[in-house]
Amino acid sequence: MENVTYSYEKGYGIKNVNFTIDDSEFTFLIGPTGSGKTTIMKLIYMALFPQSGVVTTGKFSSDKIKKRKIPFLRRKIGMIFQDYHLLQDRNLYENIALPLYVVGTSHSDVSERVEEAIDQVSLTGKEEHLPNELSGGEQQRACIARALVKEPEIILADEPTGNLDPITSFELLKLLESVNHEGTAVLMASHNYNLIKGRGHRIMEIQQGILRNN
Ligand SMILES: Nc1ncnc2c1ncn2[C@@H]1O[C@H](COP(=O)(O)OP(=O)(O)OP(=O)(O)O)[C@@H](O)[C@H]1O
Ligand SMILES: [Mg+2]
Repeated sequence: MENVTYSYEKGYGIKNVNFTIDDSEFTFLIGPTGSGKTTIMKLIYMALFPQSGVVTTGKFSSDKIKKRKIPFLRRKIGMIFQDYHLLQDRNLYENIALPLYVVGTSHSDVSERVEEAIDQVSLTGKEEHLPNELSGGEQQRACIARALVKEPEIILADEPTGNLDPITSFELLKLLESVNHEGTAVLMASHNYNLIKGRGHRIMEIQQGILRNN
């Protein structure tokens, strides 16, 4: 992200933000509510485009990308949200399989990759459960599996522990760390400083739309 400014029509956004996330890096993005964390995530997956500056995600650049190429960019990104965004009428297996069906993966490959992802997040045996038959922590692990199944280059996790208790939050963070250990870059937004301090990862701090890069 180079000198990126984004202002919303009705209000605030981010100002002149500059940073790079390397392949395989684990980075925290912290800052109070309304400071611009989600805005940065949206700029990275190109749901928003900057008014000035350039966002480059992998080989895609915000000033050059064509609208029809955006799905190709999103294939490289695993997205995890505070409120899960699981489809309530599909079971765990189907939720995780969906990103693969969207890109036309064959049935036999889908089942192998979905089972592997479910195993990675320790939800084997819960394939038939609907989201409302899973705990919050399990739903968030399902979201990690749904991200992993795409074999993404980066995971964007926007307040992934916002609805979880401290112990479950810590377990989720450790799961993201193990995913990162396997080579996937992670950018995790949080306002829970207690959770993220002392983990040995880079911390970027944003306040009122201005980023301090540590
Ligand atoms: N769609 C929108 N229209 C107008 N202003 C917006 C919109 N979305 C966000 N904003 C404003 O932009 C600023 C940054 O919002 P953003 O959602 O990026 O913050 P955040 O750091 O993710 O906050 P939180 O921790 O509460 O999720 C805030 O002042 C917010 O009010
Ligand atoms: Mg937010």
